[in-house]
Amino acid sequence: MANNERESICYELLCDVFIDNAYSSLQLNNYLEKVADERDRAYISKLFYGVLEKNVQFDYIIRKLASKRPKASVGILIKIGLYRLRYMNAPSYAAINETVELAKRVGKGGLAGFINAILRKSETFLLPQEKDVSESVYLSVNYSVSVWIVEKLIFQYGYDFTRKFLDHEPDRRTHIRYNSRLITKEEFEKKLANSDFVRSKLGYYVTHNMLNELKKSDFTVQSLSSMIASSCYLPNDLAAFPTILDLCGAPGGKSVYIEELCPTAKIYCCDLHPHRVELIKKYAKRMRSDIIPTLNDATKISPEWINKFDVVICDVPCSGLGVYKNKPDILFNKKPEDIVKIRELQANILDNAKNYVKVGGVLNYSTCTILREENDDNIKEFLELNKNFALDKIVLPFVAENDGIVRLFPHIDGCDGFFVARMRRIS
Ligand SMILES: C[S@@+](CC[C@H](N)C(=O)[O-])C[C@H]1O[C@@H](n2cnc3c(N)ncnc32)[C@H](O)[C@@H]1O
Repeated sequence: MANNERESICYELLCDVFIDNAYSSLQLNNYLEKVADERDRAYISKLFYGVLEKNVQFDYIIRKLASKRPKASVGILIKIGLYRLRYMNAPSYAAINETVELAKRVGKGGLAGFINAILRKSETFLLPQEKDVSESVYLSVNYSVSVWIVEKLIFQYGYDFTRKFLDHEPDRRTHIRYNSRLITKEEFEKKLANSDFVRSKLGYYVTHNMLNELKKSDFTVQSLSSMIASSCYLPNDLAAFPTILDLCGAPGGKSVYIEELCPTAKIYCCDLHPHRVELIKKYAKRMRSDIIPTLNDATKISPEWINKFDVVICDVPCSGLGVYKNKPDILFNKKPEDIVKIRELQANILDNAKNYVKVGGVLNYSTCTILREENDDNIKEFLELNKNFALDKIVLPFVAENDGIVRLFPHIDGCDGFFVARMRRIS
């Protein structure tokens, strides 16, 4: 595929996302299923995700250089050109001329002059320095994160912390663990021996190529944070044959690992959406796991489960700020009101989940965000209203001393941002 064809495809895909509100990773993956050549796939993914990742920054540049705000479709063309100029090392004449040609191919030839002028001006445009703008605008533009998110982070954590969080580049290798149902640690490490792998606290970082060399059933891709969270859910005094309810379980990553940590457990792994319950089934089958995939709405009471579980898990939907560097589309188009809505859902799920915990059992709440309103604030509110629950200290060799809350930050812990609170039902 020639570059101009790849760029036309990116343009169409980005229009689906920017204009028709399509879900970006779904849209891209659906398209890439039809593309056989690895180089085409890599180029299209890089440009597509690159534009989404730099969207906030590119909007700023366009605002500064254009006398009027371009239509969304023209904005997308300019952003494709900007990404190639600034982040793909494309020679400037090629990046600019090819973007102009792309504009003509997609019926925007009338604006070729405008697009050409913005891209030419952008070549000498410098992003604002710390001294030129407010702290939040500086971080927002330079790290391409919406200014309202940056403001929240600065308010909650302070400027230096926020800057370090945004500046941190995560390990781009893939984190995997072995499937203890099918292979021992020693056997697995023998298979890894000739490769370039690095042990983490609980698994291994490997290169993407290495994944193709390993037998599929021997391992699974699971982030270190997800493994740490799964371990945090289980108290040290767990019953011999515990019953566990994972209320927001799809695609099943944590439930399946929990079963490996505690093979005598009976685990219900639930989700609201039938297609996501299918994902749990598929994953459990691949991993030879006996977890029980279950369709259930975590915000509604299921009377048959009241007081029945030793461990209840609410791994709730969240803004995803802790994993945004690995999923560039996750913050795309998020607005402050989305956080308000999602927080309400999180609180509802937690409030309903408390009914399923036996006296002496534990209730877990986790997210992959670092925003306090989705984390600490939800837990504080819950504990104030439910005096029969108390934070339950999590004691694990790979977790810092705590009072029942574990907070992981990418730039401090070297893994995805994560939050886990474990509460014990005391009466
Ligand atoms: C963070 S993901 C869970 C990831 C999962 N625990 C794992 O480790 O693989 C949150 C899940 O909650 C599900 N969800 C959203 N609202 C729900 C509800 N009302 N009841 C049950 N599940 C819900 C979503 O479909 C999504 O699969």
